[in-house]
Amino acid sequence: MSGDVWLFAYGSLIFRPDFAVEARLRAELIGWSRRFYQGSTDHRGVPGAPGRVVTLVPGGRCVGIAYRVGPRDRDRVFGYLDEREQGGYTRQEVEVRAGGALLAATTYVAHAGNPDWIGEADVDELARVIRRSAGPSGPNLAYALELAEALRALDAGDEHVEAVARALLTSPA
Ligand code: SIN
Repeated sequence: MSGDVWLFAYGSLIFRPDFAVEARLRAELIGWSRRFYQGSTDHRGVPGAPGRVVTLVPGGRCVGIAYRVGPRDRDRVFGYLDEREQGGYTRQEVEVRAGGALLAATTYVAHAGNPDWIGEADVDELARVIRRSAGPSGPNLAYALELAEALRALDAGDEHVEAVARALLTSPA
């Protein structure tokens, strides 16, 4: 539809979509994978003690949600999202497969090297940081477990998020 835009959500925007949308479709992004490699000092951690939140890294595939944002809501929704995702994320145009079609969508990616980037770590280290972190949006643990649950509901088959969720539900050594 003229003026409609699509937003591809793969992290908190899946389980906390507090903005106006007109439609919601399971969507698949090819060529990118979800990873807990981005530091969060404004939502799930604080400056000096960042939590870990997801971003996209090149390679693989990622299942999430495509939201259709109506023309009248567009400026307000993306203005809100630019602020919500300001901790290292920038808008990126991608193409996702949803509802049997290819859709042009905007997504928010925190690229390697941004000021809050933390990068790769093994699953136990990711779980250790996530378990102890919290910020203005709540505990990092809730972010990770709510994301894992939302992805299961989408039948996303995300092994990385599942491995982190399993480690979080196992008692710390
Ligand atoms: C997203 O959800 O699509 C972006 C990352 C996040 O806010 O967790």
